[in-house]
This record gives sequence, structure tokens and C-alpha cells, in this order.
Amino acid sequence: MNDNPTHITSVLASAIRYAEEAGQQILNRMTTPYRIDDKVNRSDLVTEVDLMSDSLIRERIGSDYPDHWVLSEETKSPGDPFDMMKMPAPGYGWIIDPIDGTTNFVHGIPHFAVSIGIVQDGSLQHGVVYNPMTRELYHASRGEGAFLNGTRIRASEENDVGNAVLATGFQASDWNPDSVAAAQVARIAGTTRSVRILGAASLDLCMVACGRLSGFWHDGLYPWDAAAGLLIVMEAGGIVTNAAGEPFSLSDKTLVASNPHLHRALLSLLYAI
Ligand code: IPD
Ligand code: CA
Ligand code: CA
Ligand code: CA
Repeated sequence: MNDNPTHITSVLASAIRYAEEAGQQILNRMTTPYRIDDKVNRSDLVTEVDLMSDSLIRERIGSDYPDHWVLSEETKSPGDPFDMMKMPAPGYGWIIDPIDGTTNFVHGIPHFAVSIGIVQDGSLQHGVVYNPMTRELYHASRGEGAFLNGTRIRASEENDVGNAVLATGFQASDWNPDSVAAAQVARIAGTTRSVRILGAASLDLCMVACGRLSGFWHDGLYPWDAAAGLLIVMEAGGIVTNAAGEPFSLSDKTLVASNPHLHRALLSLLYAI
């Protein structure tokens, strides 16, 4: 395994280039007014800038890799994306979140990212997550390790749950005092050092990968939220499972990511398994 990402394949190099280009365009658009629409409710937003990032990345892929398929949050084909991930098309596919953390973006909170995962014949091969505000670029390729701005990263070594800082996220509609999510936060917050709700799942995963967080859990994620970060965590030596403790697949809705030492404890605190 390389400690230096010198073997960057052309498809990974393209993904990095598209993420940086989209990130720059997102920064350029931040200071001028842009249209903001509700999707399902006022906690679920899409802006002109999400759509701009989406079309920029899709145009680049269409021109450089015309035979690759694309699944992007803002222009997904009709039908259930989970079905698509259960029966992935053969060949190369790109799974894109053009802005992960749109609410943060709209409120000027510098915690959002462009997320690009690349699968080949159903297996994740590359992941790129770029936060244009901090200029932090995470990438990983299967079997090659995970990197932050070119430096190798690893999941934390923390093995005492009492010292762990964890993050979660939730759909606004799932949040009420009697919800499972509220009970989980109460249980975890009472057992660990602290819980964060940072608002960009792709970056939360990357924070597990580089050891800033010891773990992250989330119900109701979509493939575009998880694809890139999932590979980045695994390549950093972290573990990512579903609620049953099985290896996470992009058709799973619940994701639990952590360093290897704390995964059992986290599953047991969250799901009593
Ligand atoms: C959202 C973010 C958030 C998570 C939500 C996602 P979006 O993505 O990742 O952290 O809690 O479930 O939908 O809509 O900003 O791309
Ligand atoms: Ca969204
Ligand atoms: Ca997202
Ligand atoms: Ca998004």
C-alpha cells in the first residue's frame, strides 16, 4: 500500500478535477443572490448552485467518459435509487452529491462539500469529497489508502467510548422528542464525550476517516450522501456497517461508521445488538 498517492488513475484524477472545479464555481456563486427552493419542506432545500454544480460535473463526465452512467441527487432518474444500487449497471458509474450540506451552504456555515463516488461493476473504486471553504480534499481508491490533501489519514485509535466524540444527522421529519433518533442521541451523549450534528454526511464520514471523530451514525442516507465517504473511511482503517453490523451496502438506509475499536460498543449503544 502506498503512503504517497502517486498512482492516481485517470478516472480518480478526473473526479478530483471535477470536484475542485465545481467547488470553485460554488464559491464564486456564494456572494451573489441565487434561487433557493424547498423540495419536500423548508428543511429540504435545493438552490441554483446545487443545480449548477450538478450540471458542471455531469457535463464533464459526459464529455470525458460518455459510456459511464451517473446517479446524482439533483437529477436522478425517476425510480428508487436504492433499486438502482441493488442492481447496479455494469461498467463504471458515478454517484454524485453536487452539494452535500445545502442547508449549511445557504446559511454560510463553512461545512459543505462536493462528493463523488465511482463504482465499477457494482463495487466502489474511488471516492472524492471536497470542502471548497476549507480547501480540504479527501480521496481514496480501493486498496490504496485514504488521503487528506495528499497526506495519508487513518481512523482514530480511541478505544474508550467515554472519550469518543461522535456525530449524527437526521431528517427533520424524523426528529421529535419521542423518536428513535432522539433516544439514540440521549443515550450516546450520556455515554461519550459529546455528540455533534454537523450537517454534511460526506464530511462527517471523512472526519471519522481522519480521526477527528471516533464515529458517525445516520438513518435515511442516500447513495450520494454515503458513497465517497464510505470508501474513504474504509481505506482509512475504519469500519462501516448497517444497523445489524453487516458491511454497509449503498442500498442500506442506516449507516454506522467508526474506528475499529469502538464499533461494537457503538452498535450496542444504538441498537442494543
Ligand atoms: C444532507 C446532509 C445531512 C444529512 C441529510 C442529507 P444534502 O444532504 O448530508 O448531513 O443529515 O440526511 O440529506 O441534502 O445537504 O445534500
Ligand atoms: Ca438534498
Ligand atoms: Ca447529501
Ligand atoms: Ca445535496
